[in-house]
Amino acid sequence: MKIAPSILASNFCKLSQELEAITNANASIIHLDIMDGHYVPNLTFGLPVVQAIAKEAKLPLDAHLMVLNPDTYVDTFAELGVEYFSFHPETVFHPDGLIQKIKTRKMKAGIAINPGTSVNCIVELLYCVDFVLVMTVNPGFTGQKFITSTVSKIKYLDEFRKLHKLKYEIEVDGGINFDTIKHLTPYNVDIVVAGAYIFHSKDYGEAIRTLNSAYIL
Ligand code: DX5
Ligand code: ZN
Repeated sequence: MKIAPSILASNFCKLSQELEAITNANASIIHLDIMDGHYVPNLTFGLPVVQAIAKEAKLPLDAHLMVLNPDTYVDTFAELGVEYFSFHPETVFHPDGLIQKIKTRKMKAGIAINPGTSVNCIVELLYCVDFVLVMTVNPGFTGQKFITSTVSKIKYLDEFRKLHKLKYEIEVDGGINFDTIKHLTPYNVDIVVAGAYIFHSKDYGEAIRTLNSAYIL
C-alpha cells in the first residue's frame, strides 16, 4: 500500500520544504488536488504550480483533476512527467475517450467517483482504466470527515478486479486518519491519500508509519 500525501493540506508558503519533508518521511507519491471553483466549490492551483512542483519533486506525481474540461491538462501534465492522472466522469462527455488520450500520453489513467455516485456508473470503464480513485469525502476540501457508506464501493471494486482478472489500482481519498484507515484493512487498497492527517502532524514520518501499521492490523 502506497501513501500519497495531499499537498492541499500543506503550508503553501513553504511548499519546497514540505515536498522535501514528505519525501524524507517515506511517502510514495505526491497527490495534487487540482480544483477550478466550478466543478467543486474551491479553487486550488493549476499549471504554474504543478510546473514548479514537477521541477523539485523526487516522487511520482498523482494529479487529481476536479475541474471541468480536464482534457485540457493532459498534454502539459504528460510533458511535466505526471504519472497518475484522474478525472471525474461527470466533467466530460466521453470518459472512455479521455482515458484513451491519457494512456496515449503514457500516464496512468484514473476515474474518480464521488460518495454520491454509484460504482455502476463506471463499470464499463473498469476494463480500461489503470486506477479508480474512490472519494471517501465530497471533493473540494481537506480536513473533512470520512463517509463510511463509500466502503462498500471499495469492496465491490476489489472483488470485481479479482473476478474479472483486471489490474487497476484502487486509490482511496478523503478523511483518512489512524481510525478511518482501518475500514480499508479487509481490502486490497493500493494507494491511500492523506492530507490533514499527515500535514497537521508534528512528525510526517511517524504519521505515515502509523497509517501503514493501522492498515495492516
Ligand atoms: C478533496 C481532495 C482530497 C483531500 C484529502 O477534494 O481530493 O485529496 O485533500 O485531504 P484529507 O486527507 O485532509 O481529507
Ligand atoms: Zn484528491
